[in-house]
Amino acid sequence: EKLFRLFLFKFFIMSLEEEIKKRRTFGIISHPDAGKTTLTEKLLLFGGAINEAGAVKSNKIKKTAASDFMEIERQRGISVSTSVLAFNFKDKKINILDTPGHKDFAEDTYRTLTAVDSVIVVIDVAKGVEEQTEKLVEVCRMRQIPIIIFINKLDREGKDAFDLLDEVEKKLGLTVTPLSFPIGMGLNFKGIYNVWKKNIKIYQNDQKQIIGNKTTFNSLNDPELESIIGKKNIKNLKEELELIDGVYPSFEKNSYLNGDLHPVFFGSALNNYGVEDLLECFIEIAPFPLPKQSEKRIVEPKEEKFTGFIFKIHANMDPNHRNRLAFVKIVSGTFKRNTSYLHVRNNKNLKFSAPNTFFAEKKEIIEVSYPGDIVGLHDSGNFKIGDTLTSGESLNFIGIPNFSPEHFRYINNKNPMKAKQLEKGINQLMDEGIAQLFVLNLNGRKIIGTVGALQFDVIQYRLLNEYGAQCEYENINIYKACWVDGDKDCSSMDDFIRKKQKYLASDKKGKLVYLSDSEFTLKMAQQNYSDLKFHFTSEF
Ligand code: G4P
Repeated sequence: EKLFRLFLFKFFIMSLEEEIKKRRTFGIISHPDAGKTTLTEKLLLFGGAINEAGAVKSNKIKKTAASDFMEIERQRGISVSTSVLAFNFKDKKINILDTPGHKDFAEDTYRTLTAVDSVIVVIDVAKGVEEQTEKLVEVCRMRQIPIIIFINKLDREGKDAFDLLDEVEKKLGLTVTPLSFPIGMGLNFKGIYNVWKKNIKIYQNDQKQIIGNKTTFNSLNDPELESIIGKKNIKNLKEELELIDGVYPSFEKNSYLNGDLHPVFFGSALNNYGVEDLLECFIEIAPFPLPKQSEKRIVEPKEEKFTGFIFKIHANMDPNHRNRLAFVKIVSGTFKRNTSYLHVRNNKNLKFSAPNTFFAEKKEIIEVSYPGDIVGLHDSGNFKIGDTLTSGESLNFIGIPNFSPEHFRYINNKNPMKAKQLEKGINQLMDEGIAQLFVLNLNGRKIIGTVGALQFDVIQYRLLNEYGAQCEYENINIYKACWVDGDKDCSSMDDFIRKKQKYLASDKKGKLVYLSDSEFTLKMAQQNYSDLKFHFTSEF
């Protein structure tokens, strides 16, 4: 019997490893309008998860709606269904995690990046590297997430390909290596040379919906190719390929996986062109689920016991169904329905009878999920972003920080009869990660800090509609919040606390936060207290 058990155990571990190797969990990031939604849709089309373009509802928040937060909430509702889009391609299971492009939701995006194993960055060929892309790539770089770049809209006139590669290197600070290269662009767009596969696919702009089946040539010297794209274009391409060979480092998978080298692809998502090359390469090189650091130790995906963490909580807008959906990324082992798991922060066992999985746009109840997968758990208010679930071990994953907010206001209670409701509402909304609460050390006043200005309206509206509480805001002049840390007994900490008393607060974990009122005073504080550390994310 012992032997049989050993056999079963080995079989289990082997099949778990197989499942892990199949998975690719990634996010697509871009500045709004670069083509993230279109690319996502085309990837799903290749995976056979949808049959026609236009099937994925746009999850982007339209520019015109920037001041209309109700509209934004409505669209946020739609985006639950696109929070995770899973599909199969060849023998791989691919999970795309949605990242809102709207800058007011940047913190949502930062946090989603804690749950991806790699990213694809979409850049508009005409606009080049834009502001939102710079910020998001910075977060990826900090975490050494492997990045592939997709330069989109080659069917339009845009910047020169080499200039764009330069711009990516300079503005994003990435070392690039083109794995494909365009032949012309705009009206003269003829096709793309695939450096990775060493072939050329001819561009035909009537193939938006067609999968595969593009005219492909394996040699630049093929006379038929010359008759299609012309002698001059071939000559140019040969020169450009020589230049690429001489100037850019050749692709090396390990450098990419370590976050040191970043492959670039060109294409037109709308015309379904270049997407297949990207996807084929992606499934070969992109990392499968990676080990994750916890406070105690590194957790390996192939460990038998389940662990996972919550990176996103989505509230239901409907006051009659106030349950929330918590998104868990599975780090190790298998997650099973109706099985008891430890919610580490509360030290409570929880069982889930209807965990959701996501396939294309559908939510389904699942029996079992593997590392890399995202599971949606119904929650009545137990969870906070960053919480860990395990099969029993008491461990906490790290690397899910709060980011320094940029907008601040006092929050006051407008209706003294509803103080409790307000307190509960604020706490739950903060658990969802909409904003951060700071309590001033001097007088206990509450300050809300957000990454986007829009969140203030959302909070006010939701407090009233979901908790029956009324709040009002009061302006406060704060430039930036940062976490301060240093030797507790050192004299400069004492001095800092005494002199900056007015500007000190505690975050939800009781950590010391300095709310500086200007860039200048922050700089001065950093200079004057050089043995203290000023952090711009909550984890250090
Ligand atoms: P986003 O999610 O990054 O915000 O961008 P999205 O995919 O919604 O694309 C933004 C606009 O760019 C859309 O046009 C889309 O059709 C267009 N687009 C995407 N890829 C390409 C491409 O390869 N070539 C060209 N020429 N256009 C592309 P829109 O008019 O704003 O929206 P829609 O009405 O077409 O949906």
